[in-house]
Amino acid sequence: MARQLLATKSIAELHEQESSGNQLRRALGWVHLTLLGIGGIIGTGIFVLTGTAAANHAGPALPLSFIVAGLGCTFAGLCYAEFSAMIPVSGSAYSYSYATLGEGIAWFIGWNLVLEYLFAVATVSVGWSGYVVSLLEQLHIHLPAQLTNAPFGTPMGKEAFEIVATGAIINVPAILIVAVIATICYIGIKQSAWFNSVIVAIKVTVILLFILIGVSYIDTANWQPFVPPNGGQFGLFGWSGVMAASGVIFFAYIGFDAISTAAQETRNPQRDMPIGILASLIICTILYVIVSTVLTGMVSYKDLDVAAPVALALDRHNAPYWIGIAVKLGAVCGMTSVMLVMTIAQARIFFAMARDGLLPPFFGRVHPRFKTPSTGTAITGFFAALVGGLFPVKILGEMVAIGTLAAFVTVCIGVLVLRRTRPDLPRPFRAPWARFTCIAGAVVCGAMMFSLGPATWARLVIWTAVGVVIYAFYGYRHSCVRKANGGALASPAPSR
Ligand code: ALA
Repeated sequence: MARQLLATKSIAELHEQESSGNQLRRALGWVHLTLLGIGGIIGTGIFVLTGTAAANHAGPALPLSFIVAGLGCTFAGLCYAEFSAMIPVSGSAYSYSYATLGEGIAWFIGWNLVLEYLFAVATVSVGWSGYVVSLLEQLHIHLPAQLTNAPFGTPMGKEAFEIVATGAIINVPAILIVAVIATICYIGIKQSAWFNSVIVAIKVTVILLFILIGVSYIDTANWQPFVPPNGGQFGLFGWSGVMAASGVIFFAYIGFDAISTAAQETRNPQRDMPIGILASLIICTILYVIVSTVLTGMVSYKDLDVAAPVALALDRHNAPYWIGIAVKLGAVCGMTSVMLVMTIAQARIFFAMARDGLLPPFFGRVHPRFKTPSTGTAITGFFAALVGGLFPVKILGEMVAIGTLAAFVTVCIGVLVLRRTRPDLPRPFRAPWARFTCIAGAVVCGAMMFSLGPATWARLVIWTAVGVVIYAFYGYRHSCVRKANGGALASPAPSR
C-alpha cells in the first residue's frame, strides 16, 4: 500500500491523457482566463468580510492586510502559474501533486479541493441569499425568514464545534441559485465564460463607481490613527490585528487558482495560464487595496461590522438611492460569478480524479453534445445546493479556507520538489527566485492554516477520515496507476 501511496504519475502520462479519450472543447484565451479569475475572486470577501476585518482587527490599516494576504497568494499564484503552464491539465493542484508527491497526497489534495470549490459554491450561495433578501426588503418584498436561513448553526459566543437547530427550515434562495449556476455550467464552457464576462463587467463597474463616488466623501480624520493601538489581545488591532485581518480577508482572494482547472479548455495554456492567473490576481489586489482605503476613509472603521459595509458607507453620506441599489446588485452579480467559476472548477477536478480511476467513471463523463463534464457538474450542483441550503456562512467559509490553504501549501512544495527531481522538464513559465517564493508561499499559507480554530481542524480531520475510507474502498483498488502495474505495484512508478 505504501508503494501505491507514493506512486507518482509521469508528466508524459498526464500529457498523453490530454490528447486521448474525453476531449473538452478548447475555447478559451488569456482574456477569458483573466475574466474567469476575476469572476472567481471578487465576491463575498470584498463585499461582506471587509467590514468585519476593519471593525474587529485592522481599522484603517485594512489596506495593509489586503497587501499581506495578496502577497501570500502571489507566492502561491506564481507556483500555480509554473505548474499550470508545465502540466496544463484539468486536475490543477490534484494533478500537480500526483506528478510530484504521489497518489496518497494527490488524493488528499483532490479531496481538499472539494472543500475549496464545492463548499465555496455553498458558502457564497448563502451570502448571495442574504444580499438578495436585503435587496428585496428594500423593494418592500418580504420573504419568510424560515425559508431564507440555514436550519443549522453554531451557538453564539461558544466554540463553533457545536451545531444547533436555528428554527429555520431551509435556505431556498441559496438552493435555487446553485441550481441555475449548475445548469449554465452543464450547457457549456463557452456559454459559462460569456456569462461570466458579462457579470465581471458589471461588478467591476460597480466597484469603480463606488471608488469614484466614495473618494469625494473621504474624511482623512477617519484614517487616524492608521494602526489603532492593540486592545490587549492578539489580533485586536495593532500590528497583530493587521495580520489577523489578513487571515479573515484571505477568503477574498480564493478563486485565482480555479482557472488552472480550465487548462484543457484553453487554446494555448502554456502562455495563457500564467497570464490569466497573475493578471487576475494583480487586478484584484489593486482594486481591493483601493476599495478598502476609500471605505475606511468614508466612515469610521468602528461602524463597519455589518453585512453590507460598502452599501452602508454610501448610505451614510446620503448618496443617491440608486447607487445603493446598484452596489447591492453588483455584489449579487459578483457572488454569482464566484459560484460559476467554482462550479466549473469542481466538475473538472472530479473529471481528472475519475480519469485516474480514483473516483467512479461517471464523474468523468463528458456530455456528447455540450462537451462539458456534465455528470460531475450535476453532482457538484446537487451537493453544493444541499450544503448551502442547510449550513451558515461561518462554518462553511472556514472549511473552504482550510481546504484551499492545504492545496496552496502542497502546490508550493510541489514546485520545489519537481525543480529538484525533474530539472530538465520544459517550463514555459518559471516562478522567479523559486526557492524563496515556494518556501515563503508554504510558510505564509501554513501560518494562515494554523490561525484557523480547533473546530475547523476537527472538521478537517473528519473530512479527511471520510476521504481515507473512500480511497481505501474505491480509489486504491481502481487506480489506473495500479492497473498499469498489473493490479499491484511492484515498485513506485517512476516520474518520467
Ligand atoms: N474570493 C471569493 C469571494 O470572495 C471566494 O467570494
